Amino acid sequence: MSIDTITIIDIPKITDVRGNLSVIENDVVPFDIKRVYYLYDVPSGTHRGGHAHKTLQQLLIAISGSFNVVLKDRNGQQKTITLNKPNKGLLIPNMTWRELEDFSSGAVCLVIASEIYDKEDYIRDFNKFLLKR
Ligand code: TYD
Repeated sequence: MSIDTITIIDIPKITDVRGNLSVIENDVVPFDIKRVYYLYDVPSGTHRGGHAHKTLQQLLIAISGSFNVVLKDRNGQQKTITLNKPNKGLLIPNMTWRELEDFSSGAVCLVIASEIYDKEDYIRDFNKFLLKR
């Protein structure tokens, strides 16, 4: 998987005088949604992630606040993406190394996932990630 295939998805936003409402249905995401989780109360300076997934695909959304996502592929390419809009989602394909950092105070990272939790799907060693066939 190459960094070049990383995409930001527009999440539909319904606006009126009462504020905004964004909705994610299966047609917004290029996989069947099997799991939703969220990161919050992340202490300042914390790094999260630091792994890749063999098969899992994820959509990350900054529901509140902001954070940076550092993505690395196995061709040595690297890209940093700032997420700070609740109607933008970062689609992370499988076999992509990710690190989450620079969480703002009150930031919430919503993760929409293509699979249920499976610790065997994680690659936590960067060298093994680079060498995995
Ligand atoms: P981890 O994936 O290491 O978090 P991050 O990638 O944000 O650094 O998960 C932290 C802990 O939570 C770890 O013990 C596994 C557990 N966990 C679950 O039990 N279910 C889940 O769906 C997820 C994502 C994590």
